Amino acid sequence: MSKKLVAYFSASGNTAALAKSLADKAGADIYEIRPSVPYTNADLNWQNKQSRSSIEMSDHSSRPGLADTSADIAAYDTIYIGFPVWWYIAPTIINTFLESYDFSGKKIILFATSGGSGFGKAVENLRTSAPNAEIIEGKVNPSAKDIEVLAEMD
Ligand SMILES: Cc1cc2nc3c(=O)[nH]c(=O)nc-3n(C[C@H](O)[C@H](O)[C@H](O)COP(=O)(O)O)c2cc1C
Repeated sequence: MSKKLVAYFSASGNTAALAKSLADKAGADIYEIRPSVPYTNADLNWQNKQSRSSIEMSDHSSRPGLADTSADIAAYDTIYIGFPVWWYIAPTIINTFLESYDFSGKKIILFATSGGSGFGKAVENLRTSAPNAEIIEGKVNPSAKDIEVLAEMD
């Protein structure tokens, strides 16, 4: 059986809850992608063009720092990566995460939560940060049944 990791970033808990149930179902280890500077509620205000998230997401080359780079990516064959959809892509901290490790030859399965939109351009954008990985589009806002399907996708 392949060794699996569920890595996730979650600013307000929705993606974290799904990550935990996916890790349970898949028998995977779990790792939280944490920013070096946590996001405050004000940072997450998408209605304010000057908020941290608005500024970061209007510049796709922004790379918010990570609290640590201690995920043992080399030990896993399949890495699920979960995130909230922000402005129709993944938060750029996911690019930071992908660019901070060697994902060559790894299978990456994406999942996300959103207020209703799909992956948008998240998948193609993330491929540029891990060109030597196989990146598979999983599911946005997966149902319990979808979680079971994702868990078997390695
Ligand atoms: C800065 C920001 C941008 C967002 N952009 C989108 C979006 O483009 N489409 C969408 O459906 N939801 C969007 N949302 C809603 C989040 O994707 C949704 O609330 C998600 O479940 C939050 O996950 P979390 O609790 O794991 O952080 C946005 C939320 C924030 C804070």
